[in-house]
This record gives sequence, structure tokens and C-alpha cells, in this order.
Amino acid sequence: MQSSMAPSRTMALLAMLLVSRLFFCSQASTDGFLACLTASVPEQLLFTRSSPSFASVLASSVRNRRFLTQATVRPLCVVTATNASHVQAAVVCGRQHGVRLRVRSGGHDYEGLSYRSARPETFFVVDLAGLRSVRVSLGIPREGAPATAWVDSGATLGELYHAIGKASDRLAFPAGLCPTVGVGGHLSGGGFGMLLRKHGLAVDHVVDATMVDAEGRVLDRDAMGQDVFWAIRGGGGGGSFGIVLSWRVKLVAVPPTVTAFTIPRSVEQGAVDILTKWQEVAPALPDDLFVRVLVQRQVAKFQALYLGTCDALLPVMRRRFPELGVNRTHCKEMTWLQSVPYVYLGSGATVEDILNRTDPVDTTSSKATSDYVRHAIARDVWEEIFATWLARPDAGLMILDPYGGQMARVPEAATPFPHRAGVLYNVQYMNFWGGGGGDGAAQTAWVRDVYAFMEPHVSKNPREAYVNYRDLDLGENVVVGNVTSYEAGKVWGEKYYSKGNFRRLAMAKRQIDPDDYFRNEQSIPPLDADD
Ligand code: FDA
Repeated sequence: MQSSMAPSRTMALLAMLLVSRLFFCSQASTDGFLACLTASVPEQLLFTRSSPSFASVLASSVRNRRFLTQATVRPLCVVTATNASHVQAAVVCGRQHGVRLRVRSGGHDYEGLSYRSARPETFFVVDLAGLRSVRVSLGIPREGAPATAWVDSGATLGELYHAIGKASDRLAFPAGLCPTVGVGGHLSGGGFGMLLRKHGLAVDHVVDATMVDAEGRVLDRDAMGQDVFWAIRGGGGGGSFGIVLSWRVKLVAVPPTVTAFTIPRSVEQGAVDILTKWQEVAPALPDDLFVRVLVQRQVAKFQALYLGTCDALLPVMRRRFPELGVNRTHCKEMTWLQSVPYVYLGSGATVEDILNRTDPVDTTSSKATSDYVRHAIARDVWEEIFATWLARPDAGLMILDPYGGQMARVPEAATPFPHRAGVLYNVQYMNFWGGGGGDGAAQTAWVRDVYAFMEPHVSKNPREAYVNYRDLDLGENVVVGNVTSYEAGKVWGEKYYSKGNFRRLAMAKRQIDPDDYFRNEQSIPPLDADD
């Protein structure tokens, strides 16, 4: 695999690494570490706490203001890598001097684990926003060569979608709705959006990747081996295996016209009945049709994308879901690329707006968690949710994303993401605060209380959760003998990945990072195959 780091320098750094065995003492050798970094990374890419730009560089892609307070455990420095050799040098210096790192692509981690530590710790950040090229190849369809793209981890979904849509209005990529989400973190946890029923998860389409491992080597798919390649496609769980530099993804076909609609229904307009029915209708609709629901206050907002024209959509909706009352006035026809800003940013937004790396959410704080529903929730429970939980003054919202279609056809063990056949929908509970108002205690309590209330109505043994909606309330790692404990990790890990997949992830971790350098509050612990 190609790397732009000079071989002699790499060898020298690797040799130093071998000579000085790992040590992660409480007084990490920070001076030596910074000297090592200074020797290997251009000074304009290194921001220590004494740099005038440190605070702004650190804050540059923080998406949750909850983690920009005086109490936040901040990094020793930020390395804003612009090429693979900077990432390699960062890993080698960090290991050599006993300083752990956090890797940040788009900074959207719900618990801020890409740039802060929940516990006191000396660490630094490798920020990949400067590594964000997207190279689209249209392939040769008649020779069976698929359209693909190499995308760097620091690119945003918006940058990826824009490059694809500009190359062809018949191609797309099935990933999340929010254009500012980083490719690196998103693909590390699965990634789903409006195309999920037709095309499944983002990671279902990853065919190669390059990653810097704990030895500072750049590995591609063949070099990392099939177990690790399996693991990084959704089981990344926050830089557990290495720092993924870039991903090769297969693109998917879309028709020239897609149709979007949004229909709000209040409780007075029958939201409870429509929502109760939606639970079984939406996961069984034709794969081309995705209808999600945003439930907030006393309104259920049905938001849809259909891969086809309004003429083709209307008979399907009339036959399968007449209660929603979709008619021609609700339809908005456009290209798939245009649907990205339309759905997430609103009807006035343009395709150029999805290149903007910041969004209005950046000024708020938030708390979220997730569930999976495998049996439709009874009508009276929905009635209670509207009457009590959503009627509270500090209530947040629930986002319901239907699965089924292609999601259900991929076997549970094909990738680390296990929430496949039998899942009706994913629920995300979310609450916001900010703009100078309050400390978030009431909003956080709302999320925790609704989550407790929902227990009898959602998946069980384990109660499943989506790792990209990370929640440290589900559990945190415990370190035993300088290695993260597998037994302790099972508490949160089996919720995100299932029992079998979590075990397999832990064995892949043992192969690629046995010393557990890449460690955080919810990183994958190493497990010996014999244990
Ligand atoms: P960030 O940089 O914070 O990284 C997240 C985690 O991955 C961290 O633990 C980090 O260390 C690790 N990581 C990052 N880059 C890595 C790399 N190159 N190699 C290895 N590890 C790496 N999800 C979804 O499926 N569908 C959706 O529609 C949305 N929408 C959405 C909207 C908004 C506003 C937010 C805040 C979040 C979402 N998400 C989502 C969740 C999102 O997919 C999740 O937070 C991703 O992890 C974000 O990836 P970033 O690179 O932005 O985060």
C-alpha cells in the first residue's frame, strides 16, 4: 500500500517504538511526545494548548456544545493531518511516549469521544478534516465494472453526495441524512438514511479501505486481513482498530426523478391511529419507498422519499397507506442529489449548501439514545406517549426510521451491525438545549425517563441500540491489567453489535491491536480466541 511517509523515517520511528516498550503511566512523557510530533509533522498542522488557535481548531467540528465547557477533559494537542504520513507519525509518537489518541472525522459523535475523554486522561486528537478528497469512477456497466468512489474519512456526507451527484444524476450512495456528518465516523458505525430500504447500510457497500494500525503501518483490505476488514465496517466503535484514512465504496443506481413528501398529522387529526398503523406498513412497503416519522409535541410528521415519480407513488400510497391521505399536492419531484438538501435543510436549500461543513445544530447541546422495535407498539401506549411524555414542557423528539427491504436481507453476521431481519424500525430519542438557556438537566432526564418507560415495548435480550447514536449511559469500558475488559464491555457491546458479533469484534481487536492502544470509553476490548 502506498504511503507518503519516507521509508527511512518510518523505519526509524518503528524501531524506536520497538525499543521503548509501551508505557502508559499517569505522568505520560508529554515533552518527549511533543518533540516527536514536532520532528515529524509540519508545525502549521500541530496545535498545542499554548497555540493561539488551539481553542478554535478544537471547536472547529464540535457538534455538541455539551462538550465545550470548562469541565471538558481536553486534548494535549490537535494534529490536523493532511496526508497519511502525518497520521502514521501521530500514532508512532503517541505509542512511543504513552499518549493515547482520539480520531475525529466529522466530530458528530453523540458523546464527543472523538475529541474529549469522559475521564481525566492525557490524550491528543488526530483531526482528519484536511483529508477529504472524493474520487468518483463511473465504471463500465456493460463490462460489469461497477461505479465506485474512493472517499477520505475527513470528507462529509454532503461532499461525497455532491461529488457523486455531479458525476452522474443516476448514481447515489446510501448513507445518512445530515450532510455535515463525517464519512470516517459514519462508516465506522454502519450509516443509514433515506435509501436504506432499497440499498441497506452505507457499510454494506464498502469494498476496500486504507487504515493506519497501531504500528503506524498503512494497510489496505488485503493487508489488514478479512477479520479486521469485517470489523471496521460498522464495528469501529470509535477508532478501535486503527485510523481509517479512506474507503472505497460501490455506488448505487437511482432513477432520474425521485419524489419527496412531508405530511404532518396532529393528535386531533388522528396521529395516534396513523402512527400505530405505520409501524407495520412502513417496513413492508416496496423497497423504493421510505417513510420515516418525526414525533414531537402533539404531531407526527411523516417524511418520505420515493425512488420514482409522483405518478408511480400515488397508487402505492393509496393502496398501502390510505390513512395518510397523500395526494399530488404533497409531491415534490427532483433529482436524488436535490433531495439531500430538500429533506435535511428545507425547501429553500440548494445542492451547494450541502458542502457547508457547519450547520445550525452546532450551537446547541443535545442528549440522545436509541432502541429497536421488533413488535408493533400498542395503540394505547402511543396514546400515553403523546399524553404524558411528549406533552412535558422539556420534551424532546422521537425519530422513527423503518427498516425491512434490503436491510432485512443482509444476514446479521455479514457486518458487525446486527439489527437486520425482524426489526420494524429504529427509534431515536433526542433532546436539545442551548442558546444560553439551562444546563440540560431537564432535557437529559426526559431522554433517560422515556428510555426507561419504553423498556417493555422494545427489543430485548439484548435491548438493541445503534452504535452511531452512541450513549455512555449504556455502559463504559473497565480496564483490568492495562487492557479493556471483555466481560465489562459486553454490557454495552452486545446491545450495539449482538453477542456473536461483539465476540468476533473483540477477537479482531486482539489480532490488530493486542496492546489496546486504540482505547476509549466504548472501544472494542481485545479477546483471545481461546478465552
Ligand atoms: P466523529 O469524528 O465524532 O467520529 C465518531 C466516532 O468514530 C468517534 O469515536 C471517532 O473516534 C471514530 N472515528 C472517526 N473517524 C474515524 C476514522 N477515520 N477511523 C476510525 N475511527 C474513526 N447516523 C446515521 O446513521 N444516519 C443519519 O442520518 C445520521 N444523522 C445525524 C445527524 C446529526 C446532526 C448527528 C450529530 C449525527 C447523525 N448520525 C446519523 C450519527 C452519525 O452517523 C455518527 O455520529 C457518526 O459517528 C459521526 O461520524 P463523524 O465522523 O462525524 O464523527
